[in-house]
Amino acid sequence: MIRLLHIADLHFGREHRPLVDAFTEYCVSSPPDLIVATGDFTQGARRKEFAAARQFFDALPSPVIGAPGNHDVPSRALDHRFFTPWQRFERVLGGRIDPRVQTDIVLGETLHTARRAQMRLDWSLGRVSRADALILSRKLEAGAQPVKFVACHHPLIAPGGSRGRAKTKRGEDAADILAQSADLVLTGHLHETFALPREGMGHVCWFVGASTTFSERTRDEPSGFNEILIEADRMELIHHESREAKSFVPARRYELPRRPGDSPPKAVDLSDHAAR
Ligand SMILES: [Fe+2]
Repeated sequence: MIRLLHIADLHFGREHRPLVDAFTEYCVSSPPDLIVATGDFTQGARRKEFAAARQFFDALPSPVIGAPGNHDVPSRALDHRFFTPWQRFERVLGGRIDPRVQTDIVLGETLHTARRAQMRLDWSLGRVSRADALILSRKLEAGAQPVKFVACHHPLIAPGGSRGRAKTKRGEDAADILAQSADLVLTGHLHETFALPREGMGHVCWFVGASTTFSERTRDEPSGFNEILIEADRMELIHHESREAKSFVPARRYELPRRPGDSPPKAVDLSDHAAR
């Protein structure tokens, strides 16, 4: 079994320190095989925010894979934004966060969906190219590992379909392509936990969103993170939620079948168990 923790939208600069400490303690006491961090490490891509993020990751006991988000592109230093948008991310976090992971069991790749500028008003939204998705899909297909996943910041699909909140340019196309080769596509940005299935070649690919792990910028749901347990024939997602803004407790469990036709997903509320 593989056990990975999916964290997102850390927003250092607006982090809630007791939850940073609670997450670190959870990881140290029960180290996962892998941590997947799906972007927005900082609030404004400032050097001190990246430094705080680096300090956080250095205290964790597990390998980390991840990709930057729209908040990790400098917004005020326009020379950096347009000419070296990823320099701060790569200089500070590049030595700790890998763009891919490859073991006998797991093959994970990342995809950049944040852009320095776009031909639309809202530059915070994501964009993915069909060519990038195809290249990534071929890399995954070439791997013999039984578990394959992609991590990126913006959701390729999200609850509500094309009228929902995903709004990632060409996200639906990329989702169709990646569903053929990936078992999981892990994303952030919406600060919303979800798990949506899409059938691939004889398997089911799950598109999973995470809430913000510990930033003060919560939206409709509290801070939290996803724990994902992967076995040969099934996956399980346990969403941990903040309690009283100082600790995390298991809140919901989702069964994620890996084969088409298996029983549909259902969320089980764990909060009563957690309260005992
Ligand atoms: Fe974002």
